[in-house]
Amino acid sequence: MNVLVTGGAGYIGSHTCVELLQKGHGVVVVDNFSNSCAESIRRVEKITGKQINLFNIDVRDENALTKVFLDNQIDAVIHFAGLKAVGESCKMPIEYYDNNIGSTLTLVKVMRKFNCKNIVFSSSATVYGEPERLPLTEDCRTGGTTNPYGTSKLFQERILQDLYDSDNTWTVTLLRYFNPIGAHESGLIGEDPNDIPNNLTPYIAKVAVGKYPEIGVFGNDYDTPDGTGVRDYIHVVDLARGHVFALEKLTKSGVHIYNLGTGKGYSVLEVIKAFEKACGFSLKYKIMPRRAGDIATSFADPKKANLDLGWKANLNIDDMCSSLWNWQLKNPDGYR
Ligand code: NAD
Ligand code: UFG
Repeated sequence: MNVLVTGGAGYIGSHTCVELLQKGHGVVVVDNFSNSCAESIRRVEKITGKQINLFNIDVRDENALTKVFLDNQIDAVIHFAGLKAVGESCKMPIEYYDNNIGSTLTLVKVMRKFNCKNIVFSSSATVYGEPERLPLTEDCRTGGTTNPYGTSKLFQERILQDLYDSDNTWTVTLLRYFNPIGAHESGLIGEDPNDIPNNLTPYIAKVAVGKYPEIGVFGNDYDTPDGTGVRDYIHVVDLARGHVFALEKLTKSGVHIYNLGTGKGYSVLEVIKAFEKACGFSLKYKIMPRRAGDIATSFADPKKANLDLGWKANLNIDDMCSSLWNWQLKNPDGYR
């Protein structure tokens, strides 16, 4: 299959390109490098020994995207391109809605023009808002998102659902990621935040290499076993494999929704411990006030993906932390 990967130079996109190429698929990447650089694609090519057709374009640029479809046979699209920082989205809602919703609208318009009707979309556990029940199953209530980023994911899901309702020949796959962390075992690709990391594990890794003095733990008074927030962390390579399983298994039209998580939650303090085990020394942390918009606990029921796709996460929290540490040590300044 020839797959167009939007946002393919980014964290999850680059890992997915590796898995696609290793399974013999052709890969075309479009990325505007707003949160990445072309070096990640060069490294994907190094890992796999295969080539990627890379285009530096904005997915909202309909003419440029049309040209990509004209010049390349595209059988399916994995749509990662988007802005993803929760805090930033509260400060720049217009830019977030414009970029995230705008890119999805332009993409499906161009796909329709070329009769390419198979899209896998990067959604997020954030669409569940405050969980109706735990573990989260795909039929749990969605909505009640607490920031423009999350709301943009909810809207994009809805747009794709409406598209399918209007034309039942589409195959729409909504993958709701839990908390992707870790890096490829080669240490060649990984997460490379532009600025101070917002997410827990990149921050821990920066503390471990001495870039920041201590980890801030956002609240220890939640209703969880140790009072700190609990999340379902999933190795980015398992997550990437999930996309390939979805593409290969979901050949029938429809709207297919899957949680991609491990089904197990870890608290912030447990993640810090796991990272200390990986790096071999202890890390300083300080309890801080809760972060606005955070929920206490979120973890998936990943059974549906297991039953329908034959996919399940294989890597554990130690694999996640050791691969992140390997990437951080080999690339203390990311791709720069
Ligand atoms: P990332 O920022 O590393 O990757 C996104 C890529 O899209 C970047 O390379 C960026 O340059 C590109 N991009 C952004 N807007 C674009 C546009 N208009 N045109 C072309 N390229 C554009 O982020 P990631 O962590 O790899 O996330 C990938 C997708 O998964 C995003 O849609 C994100 O919302 C979603 N997601 C991520 C997480 C997470 O925790 N990382 C969780 C749930 C969902
Ligand atoms: N946390 C800290 N200190 C930090 C950063 C985070 O204690 O410096 C805590 C948070 O309070 C939370 C947990 O660590 O309890 C995880 O926080 P992250 O920011 O790493 O992840 P979130 O669960 O908040 O959100 C992530 C992505 C979202 C995505 C969501 C679900 O940032 O884009 O997972 O997939 F939608």
